[in-house]
Amino acid sequence: MAQDSLTVTDNRTNQTYTVPITKGAVRAMDFRQIKTGPEDFGLMTYDPAFLNTASCQSSITFIDGDRGILRYRGYPIEVLAEHCTFLEVAYLVLFGELPTEKELKNWVTEITYHTMLHETTKKFMEGFRHDAHPMAMLVSTVAALSTFYPEARDIQDPNNRLLQIKRLIGKMPSIAAMSYRHSLGFPYAYPDNDLSYPENFMNMLWRMVEPKYVATPALARALDILFILHADHEQNCSANAMRSVGSSHADPYLATAAAAAALSGPLHGGANEEVLKMLDEIGSQDNVPAYVKKVKEGHGKLMGFGHRIYKNYDPRAKIIKWTAERVFQVTGRNAKLDIALELERIALEDDYFIKRKLYPNVDFYSGIIYQAMGFKPEMFTVLFAIPRTVGWLAQWQEMLTDPEQKIARPRQVYTGHEVREFVPMEKRTPMAVSANSR
Ligand code: SDX
Repeated sequence: MAQDSLTVTDNRTNQTYTVPITKGAVRAMDFRQIKTGPEDFGLMTYDPAFLNTASCQSSITFIDGDRGILRYRGYPIEVLAEHCTFLEVAYLVLFGELPTEKELKNWVTEITYHTMLHETTKKFMEGFRHDAHPMAMLVSTVAALSTFYPEARDIQDPNNRLLQIKRLIGKMPSIAAMSYRHSLGFPYAYPDNDLSYPENFMNMLWRMVEPKYVATPALARALDILFILHADHEQNCSANAMRSVGSSHADPYLATAAAAAALSGPLHGGANEEVLKMLDEIGSQDNVPAYVKKVKEGHGKLMGFGHRIYKNYDPRAKIIKWTAERVFQVTGRNAKLDIALELERIALEDDYFIKRKLYPNVDFYSGIIYQAMGFKPEMFTVLFAIPRTVGWLAQWQEMLTDPEQKIARPRQVYTGHEVREFVPMEKRTPMAVSANSR
């Protein structure tokens, strides 16, 4: 009997089955053969929220949650953050190898060429209220791009996919900047394609009446590092949304909008905004013990703490902490950092968090940097979505080119009624809690 196999006995029938173990996993479909009789559909695996289910095979990102390891295409995140630019890492995540100097130059030129948005995007953006959440504006506007590029539906053509990928990477900062300027009531600033990716983003965010925007190098580099750290993270909630929507062969703009919508949730990318609200609520270092006590009593969560995969310190959080100190040398120290450091110190010593292996994640410190750079908390998740677009598109492309993949359509364990007799109107009784109650 092959060593890499699992033998199970169905005690309902005393039948024994052997299924192969490949790369540390068994195929759920290999359990379908386990039946109690010819009428039986066969055994399914039940895994709410996919706690222990691999939905795909992927070679993009590797995470070892126990050891706090994160690698893109085999390169440790620490090395990439130190030596690369974001667009260089975007090339690696998408195409699997670090680009040569010539390849990188061409890649940067291509992306820069696609920073401009169709002029009517302004009219679309103007439709939002002045206080519309920038993340909702971004999700809607990314979806609207689908109307400008109907050819994007041809997802089987690799050249067409690549063109849409370049457009999305080039245009995300432009859309983000437009939503930021809209929320402030400022006129939009056009891209300046003489600038690097982060500098051009800063230009579209912050250029006022000066003819040429000049970015502070330390802040531009900090943004570039933050973009690198947020580029991909294997099968997180929003990547799963991208793969699922993309598996129906929806165009990449609509799939990316769906992924961004998933990212906006406070348990996912929306956590960085929630961290700042939490630090504001705590108010000072002295109040930290009382807040931690409240969380331990089950009142709310420590936002920016915990992770489905990392049961150790999120390696990105360490790099963000290092980056924060460099940003503060330019912007001045954000007092919120002291509250965050005290919160981390207390939590890492407290058995409640140690037992649950709750450590700071990527969102714990990123918001403090963004706030110091002048962003409002509502923009923080938008800043997450810009670089994560690269990861979503890499996951999307890998899914489309994987011969094993098809439309994502999970099964269910049905717990509802068996077949019932119809009840005519006159015989119906009101429900315990009326569906009409507000
Ligand atoms: C991101 O998946 C990714 O890779 C995501 C991401 C990426 O790059 O794409 O890394 C980005 O989303 C980072 C996570 C940002 N979210 C937050 O910071 C929100 C706060 N964190 C939690 O909501 C939570 O930790 C999750 C959502 C991140 C993970 O949740 P899990 O894996 O479903 O864990 P769980 O909710 O089952 O928690 C296990 C236990 C529970 O306690 P018990 O029921 O066992 O008593 O830990 C507790 C939870 O109550 N717990 C927390 C906590 N997180 C989990 N308690 C207090 N504070 C927290 N933050």
